[in-house]
Amino acid sequence: MTKVHLSGVRKSFGSFTAIEHLELTIESGEFVVLLGPSGCGKTTMLRMIAGLEEPSAGSILLDGADVSNTPVQERNVGMVFQRAALFPHMTVEKNILFGLSVRGRPRGEMREKLEEMLEIVQLHDFRHRFPAQLSGGQMQRVAIARTLITEPSVLMMDEPLAGLDTKLRATMRRFIRDVQKRLRLTTIFVTHDQAEAMELADRIAVIFDGRLAQYAPPDLLYKRPSCMAVADFMGVSNIFPGTLVAKNRVESAFGQLRVDEQPRCPLGATVSLMLRAEAIDLHEHKEDTRFQAIEGRIVERDFLGASVVYTLECGATRIAVSEPSRRLLDVGRTVWLDIAPESVWLLSH
Ligand SMILES: Nc1ncnc2c1ncn2[C@@H]1O[C@H](COP(=O)(O)OP(=O)(O)O)[C@@H](O)[C@H]1O
Ligand SMILES: [Mg+2]
Repeated sequence: MTKVHLSGVRKSFGSFTAIEHLELTIESGEFVVLLGPSGCGKTTMLRMIAGLEEPSAGSILLDGADVSNTPVQERNVGMVFQRAALFPHMTVEKNILFGLSVRGRPRGEMREKLEEMLEIVQLHDFRHRFPAQLSGGQMQRVAIARTLITEPSVLMMDEPLAGLDTKLRATMRRFIRDVQKRLRLTTIFVTHDQAEAMELADRIAVIFDGRLAQYAPPDLLYKRPSCMAVADFMGVSNIFPGTLVAKNRVESAFGQLRVDEQPRCPLGATVSLMLRAEAIDLHEHKEDTRFQAIEGRIVERDFLGASVVYTLECGATRIAVSEPSRRLLDVGRTVWLDIAPESVWLLSH
């Protein structure tokens, strides 16, 4: 278990700056996901931690020791890539053992570790197969075992599930999370998929254009994004302009809404009002509302299986509301929206 610290790290390629003064700490045993759109600098960050790329400024510390000038092979960080890139002419066993055999480790130790790895990745029955005889998920499990067997102090994975189908991705996510918890490995996982990030991470680092936009646990990132760009990337569907007229009241297209105290926004400030679609309750009768009753008419209904998403017209504004699909309300009917003050989050400009 190793703590990773990036201190004032910058990376330029010629005149282009890919990473801008990055401060980031990954605690020992923590699972951190780097999340951001393609091209934001995620791979470059991993490559610098691994030693495959040299920072233009700043330093990288592993357990407090500056490794900025330490060569790749002495950093002891493991890397799993999007494509497994296994040796096609070697069996699963040989592929997993590769890192140890090039280091000339004793036979007994290799056999013992191999069994341990086959157990962790559940590939006993496939040990004599060649990569061409494996599915995509099995190949990625071999790639993970091949990295884990070298006992890295930090495990880094660069979009390792991007090539797999939806169902297999879900299985592999659980698998990776279980292995990480079992071995308590400091792990840095890269993805551009926010759902994947939330399922896996202890903390998520959101990166835009080489800058850290927010670093927080999944629930906080989801409910309390730090800015519009993060809210948008995290898939918030309802964002409206508003004005903070009292310390816990905001004027909006729905009239005045009660909000929790907003210490970050000054009175009179123009704000963006964020409402999660699933944090709004729909009632058939006005008297059932508890907080603030807003009249709306259902103009669209999207049935998604477990949930249903309604588009409601409230005056001149449209708002999305999602709820479990146990009940279905008809398009065209009038309902009452109820919004708890804690469900309103204001983003300052
Ligand atoms: N070796 C390089 N030379 C020049 N530009 C690069 C190099 N590597 C990455 N970049 C640029 O740096 C930015 C970040 O790239 P990358 O870290 O691969 O992003 P991500 O992994 O988030 O998609 C991109 O604009 C990319 O084109
Ligand atoms: Mg990348």
